[in-house]
Amino acid sequence: MRAPGQLMSSWSALLCALGVLFSLFSFGFAVKENDFKKCHQSGFCKRNRDYADKAVAQGSSWQAPYKILPTEASFKDGLFQATILKTIDEEGTTVELPLTVAFHKSGTARVTVDEKRRQEKNIELRHSSQARKERYNEAEKWAIVGGTTVDVDAKTSYVGETGIKIQYGPDSTFEASINYNPYSIEFKRDGSAQLKLNDRGLMNLEHWRPKVEKPPAPEKKEGEENAEDKKEEPAPEPVGEDESTWWDESFGGNTDSKPRGPESVALDITFFGYEHVYGIPEHAGPLSLKETRGGDGAYTEPYRLYNSDVFEYILDSPMTLYGAIPLMQAHRKDSTVAVFWLNAAETWIDITKAKESKNPLSLGKGPKTNTQTHWISEAGMMDLFVFLGPTPRDVTKAYGELTGTTAMPQEFSIGYHQCRWNYVSDDDVKEVDRKFDRYQIPYDVIWLDIEYTDEKKYFTWDNDMFKDPISMGQQLDAHGRKLVVIIDPHIKNTGSYPVIDELKSNGLAIKNKDGKDFDGWCWPGSSMWVDCFNPAAIEWWKSLFKYDKFKGTMENTWLWNDMNEPSVFNGPEVTMPKDNLHYGSWEHRDVHNINGLTFHNATYQALLSRKKGELRRPFVLTRSFYSGSQRISAMWTGDNQASWEHLGAAIPMILNQGISGFPFAGADVGGFFGNPEAELQSRWYQAGAFYPFFRGHAHIDARRREPYLLAEPYRNIVTSALRLRYSLLPSWYTAFYQAHQDGSPIIRPMYWTHPSNEGGFAIDNQFFVGSTGILVKPVVEQGKTTEDVYIPDDEVYYNYFTYQRLPTAKGQTLTVDAPIESIPMFMRGGHIFPRRDTPRRSAQLMKFDDYTLVVVIGKDGTAEGQLYTDDGDSFDYQKGEYIHRTFKLEGSKLTSTDADGRDPKSIKGGSWLKNMRNVAVDKIVIIGAPTSWADKKEVRLEAGGKQSTVKLEYFKGDASRGPFAIVGRVGASIGADWAIEFA
Ligand code: GLC
Repeated sequence: MRAPGQLMSSWSALLCALGVLFSLFSFGFAVKENDFKKCHQSGFCKRNRDYADKAVAQGSSWQAPYKILPTEASFKDGLFQATILKTIDEEGTTVELPLTVAFHKSGTARVTVDEKRRQEKNIELRHSSQARKERYNEAEKWAIVGGTTVDVDAKTSYVGETGIKIQYGPDSTFEASINYNPYSIEFKRDGSAQLKLNDRGLMNLEHWRPKVEKPPAPEKKEGEENAEDKKEEPAPEPVGEDESTWWDESFGGNTDSKPRGPESVALDITFFGYEHVYGIPEHAGPLSLKETRGGDGAYTEPYRLYNSDVFEYILDSPMTLYGAIPLMQAHRKDSTVAVFWLNAAETWIDITKAKESKNPLSLGKGPKTNTQTHWISEAGMMDLFVFLGPTPRDVTKAYGELTGTTAMPQEFSIGYHQCRWNYVSDDDVKEVDRKFDRYQIPYDVIWLDIEYTDEKKYFTWDNDMFKDPISMGQQLDAHGRKLVVIIDPHIKNTGSYPVIDELKSNGLAIKNKDGKDFDGWCWPGSSMWVDCFNPAAIEWWKSLFKYDKFKGTMENTWLWNDMNEPSVFNGPEVTMPKDNLHYGSWEHRDVHNINGLTFHNATYQALLSRKKGELRRPFVLTRSFYSGSQRISAMWTGDNQASWEHLGAAIPMILNQGISGFPFAGADVGGFFGNPEAELQSRWYQAGAFYPFFRGHAHIDARRREPYLLAEPYRNIVTSALRLRYSLLPSWYTAFYQAHQDGSPIIRPMYWTHPSNEGGFAIDNQFFVGSTGILVKPVVEQGKTTEDVYIPDDEVYYNYFTYQRLPTAKGQTLTVDAPIESIPMFMRGGHIFPRRDTPRRSAQLMKFDDYTLVVVIGKDGTAEGQLYTDDGDSFDYQKGEYIHRTFKLEGSKLTSTDADGRDPKSIKGGSWLKNMRNVAVDKIVIIGAPTSWADKKEVRLEAGGKQSTVKLEYFKGDASRGPFAIVGRVGASIGADWAIEFA
């Protein structure tokens, strides 16, 4: 994030200078860890962890203080309603917590717990705060788009004094067993327990209470907020609850005024028999989440979700990063379940794994591992969704129904993006563009970082350096290329800048705790932040992007939203004070993790309305995100480093995005900070060619590193990786379409594709691309010339480039050659995938190129695959303007039919579809072609009611190449039905 020479407050400038000094010595692991809280420095986290420790220490004598009165509970039309009573003292005083459990037609169940007194606004705020009194209940407004139709067929199988059992879901195979005292809910599938809420009795909802003024304590010094920080003089065990951070809390020189007092919500959730849990991005760690309460190789801190601008983040850490998706999946052989914790406040998640003692009667079976989780949020309602699978695909689908699936992308945006901080002028951009062409390297988009503006005033241009942005845009457009410009949420607080004047005069800025426009520091120096929770702010934001307002932009200009955590250089933990106020008088505390989404949403809306009648899919890249961001943006993993470790770390991070419903994800190729050596840069392009979002980016201090600057052989290696990406664009686009349809990941980890194969559950450094059967294991270590690849099943696998068959190796790791020129990449038998083999300068220029189909015959002699394509730009696909084919090889016949069963003649197309009639299947490459074809010279083609013959060439293979056949030129229109008979 920070660059030398940026305007900052003096203390942060000093810190920054020290940071730079420090990073000179320890580059690679220099995160300013102490800028960010540990659990014990976040009052509510510490209180809830202490609460858990107390409960665990008391063992079976622990009495959870939450119960339901049977007389007050009701179940009707798929909804269970009751009041949970929390006993708060020894006299038995209780507070009322309304509970709803809704059973949805989609098979999910939603459990919501609120607090009656706050619901009724019957509390007093301190410090004359203007904040809302209720618990935040609008997260669903931003995150949820469907899947909540209540299942009126859900029925009870037991109703009694002790609890109730409700059956729901597919064929009533799911069951929620609600226990009244203590309150808990156990979820079963087919009669077997999957997960339980409040299993260990750690539920804790901090109810409202008035502050009881006590005689003033001796003054606290900074850093002494918590008793255990005082090392010399251990504090006595607090009697009763630890109130030290109930009413205010300081960290890093900032004090949070906490006008509503303590209000956290916490719950433990146990997954029975599940050893692996995945999800809850964004963290830089393994896909299979680690334990967090110490022990061998485990973390000692909980996973944290508090969107933050973390400078030089460290790897293998539960530390928070820029975005948050509170969805966790638990997986064991043949079973996946999940929990989505819908809360936008700061959240911590502890994970422990408990081995059940071995039952001597369970012959041969090892002891079962239960994964125990503990969810702790600072504020808001308790609101969670339970998914009972049973497959990873079922979970991602149901989560997609709830929060929406990834948007159909602009087709160009799955090509390669060239970025750096900064291209310094319009001439610079034009020159880079020309050089890509000179070296025949494909790319689609060039990016402008913050320096294109006039002194970081967004919606303006630095007129000295960017004299003629339109001619720049036009040069790019001539080859179908695009420009992405950055717009951040901080608006420079300065004179003669209409944008800040409008922000202030329209009252659209985020407010401080006193209701005044909040002023903080970011790139431009003193700034204010647009409050995109406010519908009026979205309307205003839209007005700023009109072509005639944001001069210099044109139809091929798209957007990058950064720093939207929001990053505030002089704020607590580099973000906004929690007692800042948003639209609706919600505290920043309530909405923090959603803030980034609201900003890129406003930009998305703005791009939809740049010109009347122009309806095109917006492209917006965001750094901060929340559940739902996938509907409207792509993301990248922020400021990584040019190191081998970061190259390796990006893969599990991107896989995690994929299984968490936000698959349009990538990492800065080459590494943001530092200068990659040629080998690292080459390996990074080879890996990046398989990121759903593929962008090279570099820090302002990094040396220029456009691919054409590399010396041979590296330039050639990188060019090949880029061309490989471009040839596979039809397969990538099809994978995006599938993600759009059902939420499936675009690159897929082993547990997701092979949920029965236990050996693959912890593997997070190789993946399949969509449903193509292409398996990739990028090389992420220096000097490697071989690579180990895990084979998850007993299908046949072929080397992508040589067509040589790998030995059968289900559940084993094979060592394959991986010299620097090559990417370990394999084709699994049984799949058919599309390619476009003519190299061109950009995706746009490939739009009407013919296709190659690759058929990889499976061990049973069959293969199947899909192609989806549309105009890649408009929303006309929603009106049927698309081509979606299923290709099948069965027996001796290969067919192409409409994947949606449409009669091609019935499809009335527009101009795109008309052009596509002339786009044909060029050749078909058949891997694993049987030797019986050796003497074949031609095959029969039936297309459009006509029979013809097509040439077949058979190669029997040699030392360097496996056997294969080529059929072609086929010539059948890609959107039409056809069949080829090989017999
Ligand atoms: C942030 C972004 C980075 C960008 C820089 C300047 O650090 O993460 O990608 O280049 O800001 O805008």
